[in-house]
Amino acid sequence: MRIEVIGSKGQLGRELLRTLRSGAHQGSGHDIEDVDIRAPHSVSALLDAVRPDVVINCAAWTRVDAAEAEAEAAWRVNADGPRVLAEACRSRDILLCQLSTDYVFDGTASVPIDETAPPAPRSAYGRGKLAGEAAVRALQPRHQIVRTAWLFGQDGPNFVLTMLKLARERGRLRVVADQWGSPTWTGHLAPALVRLVERGVPGTYHLTNSGTTTWQGLAQAIVEEVGLDVPVEAISSSDYPTPAPRPAYSVLANRAWLELGEPPLPHWRVGLRAYLEERAKVDARPPAG
Ligand SMILES: NC(=O)c1ccc[n+]([C@@H]2O[C@H](COP(=O)([O-])OP(=O)(O)OC[C@H]3O[C@@H](n4cnc5c(N)ncnc54)[C@H](OP(=O)(O)O)[C@@H]3O)[C@@H](O)[C@H]2O)c1
Repeated sequence: MRIEVIGSKGQLGRELLRTLRSGAHQGSGHDIEDVDIRAPHSVSALLDAVRPDVVINCAAWTRVDAAEAEAEAAWRVNADGPRVLAEACRSRDILLCQLSTDYVFDGTASVPIDETAPPAPRSAYGRGKLAGEAAVRALQPRHQIVRTAWLFGQDGPNFVLTMLKLARERGRLRVVADQWGSPTWTGHLAPALVRLVERGVPGTYHLTNSGTTTWQGLAQAIVEEVGLDVPVEAISSSDYPTPAPRPAYSVLANRAWLELGEPPLPHWRVGLRAYLEERAKVDARPPAG
């Protein structure tokens, strides 16, 4: 299969290209310098040149807080972009795998959320992503919408790298302990996404590492894994106000994926350990040149 990754310079896109390089498929990737998902002519030109069987769309406006003040700009990427892609994929019979987010939920659940639960986003980012999902569902029946969460991978930016930096600079951390989710390593997610598009079964999927924790629990695990003696104080969301409200609970049950007979993704702590080992190797490399 020929698989085109759009948003290939982001943290998930880069991981997907790495996965595709070591697999049986022909992978290619493009990002904003080559294709603008908001622009139909740009998307058409790319798809006609590459002629993929599958598009995995990782391109998005992911600055969650900035999306509150710049809601229109974020909407153009997160809602209009998938609509443009869906129309272009439909007319060329290309399977469209569209990435989405746990932030489409309002956080009032208390048990893992499955794919049929009604979304109710609380942020401009979540509303835009949900509109992008709706456009894909309406316009391209051959779609897979994949909601994932709390990603870390490659060079980031992500929470893991931010915590490591702050822990080393400040010698202590204060992190919110009243938001629950499933941290997910792109190194586990990317091969699962490739598997999902190979299977080709249309629908909406939740796909995260197994297990749940809070941001404080994740920060604690990060300092433990790298052996930093840094206290990680638990604070509440009200102690750390952000422009965009986050769901208090957005743990995703990976029900549709498991129903395909696929194995659960490993526990998030396994993903964290693998990621930190990979980073240690990257950091130990001599500088280029
Ligand atoms: N990161 C998370 O924790 C998380 C959690 C749940 C779901 N997701 C979803 O997972 C997907 C991948 O996330 P990620 O963290 O890999 O994102 P990312 O690192 O922000 O990568 C997104 C890429 O898309 C590019 N892009 C932005 N606007 C574009 C446009 N109009 N046309 C083409 N490319 C454009 C970005 O370029 P610029 O950098 O130049 O803008 C960037 O290279 C997204 O759909 C996101 O909503 C992410």
